[in-house]
Amino acid sequence: MSDKISRLENLIAEAQLGGGQKRIDAQHKKGKLTARERIHFLLDEGSFEELGMLVTHRSTNFGLDKEVYLGDGVVTGYGTIQGRLVYVFSQDFTVMGGSLAEAHAEKICRVMDLAMKNGAPVIGLNDSGGARIQEGVVSLGGYADIFYRNVQASGVVPQISAIMGPCAGGAVYSPALTDFILMVENTSYMFVTGPNVVKTVTHEEVTSEELGGASTHSTKSGVTHLTAENDIAAIQKIKNLLSYMPSNCEEQPPMLEYNSGDESRPALNNIIPDNPNQPYDMHEVIQHVIDENSWFEIHKDYAENIIVGFARLAGRSIGIVANQPAFLAGVLDIKSSNKAARFVRFCDAFNIPLLVFEDVPGFLPGTDQEWNGIISNGAKLLYAFSEATVPRVTVITRKAYGGAYDVMNSKHIGADMNYAWPSAEIAVMGAKGAAEIIFKKEISEAADATAKWKEKEAEYAEKFANPYSAAERGYVDEVIMPAQTREKLIRAFKMLENKAEKAPKKKHSNMPL
Ligand code: HXC
Repeated sequence: MSDKISRLENLIAEAQLGGGQKRIDAQHKKGKLTARERIHFLLDEGSFEELGMLVTHRSTNFGLDKEVYLGDGVVTGYGTIQGRLVYVFSQDFTVMGGSLAEAHAEKICRVMDLAMKNGAPVIGLNDSGGARIQEGVVSLGGYADIFYRNVQASGVVPQISAIMGPCAGGAVYSPALTDFILMVENTSYMFVTGPNVVKTVTHEEVTSEELGGASTHSTKSGVTHLTAENDIAAIQKIKNLLSYMPSNCEEQPPMLEYNSGDESRPALNNIIPDNPNQPYDMHEVIQHVIDENSWFEIHKDYAENIIVGFARLAGRSIGIVANQPAFLAGVLDIKSSNKAARFVRFCDAFNIPLLVFEDVPGFLPGTDQEWNGIISNGAKLLYAFSEATVPRVTVITRKAYGGAYDVMNSKHIGADMNYAWPSAEIAVMGAKGAAEIIFKKEISEAADATAKWKEKEAEYAEKFANPYSAAERGYVDEVIMPAQTREKLIRAFKMLENKAEKAPKKKHSNMPL
């Protein structure tokens, strides 16, 4: 028996070493942790149960029969984070560059299948040179098997992808199908074709970092939702992110214990500037309203004219969507509509109530926006809010103009509660533009056209640059003192916590993609 035990011990020891000490040292030298170290830091101490440690590939192509590594370049299994079950796969770059082929893909599919059946999140730690070139078509099949499962699992269990090394070719599409992507700065990149192919096809000279590094994808493309300065920081962010969400679509998000106190926030009374064209930072409003230290921003550096992120309100997990008057005056454009629509759909899929802060002058005009499809892209946000059945509350802090008023979670498209501050202006457009159009003739015929314009502007502003016309019709449920906002919202979300609304029976919806 002792022989048999030592055989197993030897196999386990061999598997721990992945592609060997030399390659582990090289991994560390790049500032990266190994696949196993990442799992160690991610999961609760001692909770990891590995599956498929002894799996190997079956290929004999191009000398692969002499290059066999236990586990086939990916560590898979389950464990807990803050006591909650999660499934995890962590690609091992020390084994053939973490490349994916038949057996490697089967191991990932296995944990995804278990996650679906048992209703727990899947966390993928990606560090891979893509399809294992020697194994050929089975690598492509393996990717497609994963893509299929990503889509089946979408909206059933949360899926989070950390990109902790190269991620090229088909390898980018599995993360793209998951709910959140997090990239590690300077050591990770994502692109469909690398700099060499780009140079051949388009003659552009570009580095990997410029083409698909964390800075590019967090600011230009919006492919990544989050970035972190190193592996440890990335792992910590994943844990924080998970704390806001339930384990599956049938569950409610975790509720933290909360001892209520004085919920008034007098500082909110002084945030809106006297001049309606002067910006202010909507982050300040958010920070005064939510529980202390509970803000977790998504897509922080992308489409900054809209803010999205998770927070807690009296211990309750909520998703916040807020116009940002301090960036492009908070206007809605293609990027911000996409960013917010995706976030709204995630929250709705996983029972996370939505809170909207609104200060929006409208949609961004111009050929660039029109030619790139602001119509269908803006429609995505309208669609996402209209479709959402979670509790939904809006606070109009200042401007709610034009179509953007409708889009930003108005009651007409299903919001449950709509509050307005006394500074709210709810109208078809700003008073200046409105006066120019509807009083065009009177202004042009006046002896002093400027004075007439000003007079008519004031007339329009008096009628509509306030929340009261909307309140008269019940579009606004209550005009509240800004200082009362937190208290009102805590009560509203408590009141809505058992909301049950079912979408009409259908196969699936057809949103304007
Ligand atoms: C097999 C691979 C590999 C791959 C890397 N390796 N990528 N083995 N298949 N795809 C191996 C290397 O041979 C090397 O083995 C080890 O991994 C480390 O690679 P290095 O090149 O030494 O590391 P580094 O300099 O850090 O460069 C990493 C890299 C580069 C940028 C990922 O290796 C690379 O460009 N690889 C090829 C990427 C690629 O074209 N993949 C296919 C994409 S197409 P040793 O033995 O020396 O340690 C695709 C199609 C899928 O994915 C479509 C699905 C829809």
